[in-house]
Amino acid sequence: MDPFPGAGERSRTEPALDAPRQGPGARGGRTLAVVTSDSLRRALTAPADPPLRPLPDQVVALLEALHAPPRLAAHLRAVHDVAAQLTDAMAERFPQLPFDREAVLFGAATHDIGKVRHPEELSGPGSAHEPAGYELLLQHGVAESSARFARDHASWHQDGIDVDDLLVSVADKVWKGKRVTDLEELLVDRLAEATGRERWSVFLDLDDILDQIAADADRRLAFQATHPVRG
Ligand SMILES: [Fe+2]
Repeated sequence: MDPFPGAGERSRTEPALDAPRQGPGARGGRTLAVVTSDSLRRALTAPADPPLRPLPDQVVALLEALHAPPRLAAHLRAVHDVAAQLTDAMAERFPQLPFDREAVLFGAATHDIGKVRHPEELSGPGSAHEPAGYELLLQHGVAESSARFARDHASWHQDGIDVDDLLVSVADKVWKGKRVTDLEELLVDRLAEATGRERWSVFLDLDDILDQIAADADRRLAFQATHPVRG
């Protein structure tokens, strides 16, 4: 799946991903390349314990262009890595479950991107980042089908939510060891339907997968906490 298909509409105020950024120091029509702060670069690339996969290149480019807070980049990296572990385990234990792994990974890598516009929600409660993230992604040419995770990742009871959405939402909880019963029950419903097995039986397997991922939660939280909200 191409997460940035077509030449979608872009914001007039945000730099395009493939264009040099017009920096405040640009003179006489010259443009400056995007300057990434050391702290953002560290959040995107620093080795972590446990090891965390790098974010997709397109997402790195977007976070750099938006001068994303390092804490946000670290969080997206942690949730993206957990989504990769979760989808690998789901494919192995429940091969009948239909889902789009690339869509889930892109969703996990971008789900909180609206916190670029609402950084107060990095350290406090709030849901303004959800519609803001969706709009931001659309403005940068991301297809609606990929941008929707930013809007819907906390709305798992909403009509139209599918397995991909549920997997992003679960990854966004279990990365920090949080288990959410009503969310997991929705996933169990899909698993029972896809496999023809009893709900209790698929839950035992799902519980095992989530327990294993949650075992590293404290170290992921510690990694995220080392990256500043501002920087
Ligand atoms: Fe999140």
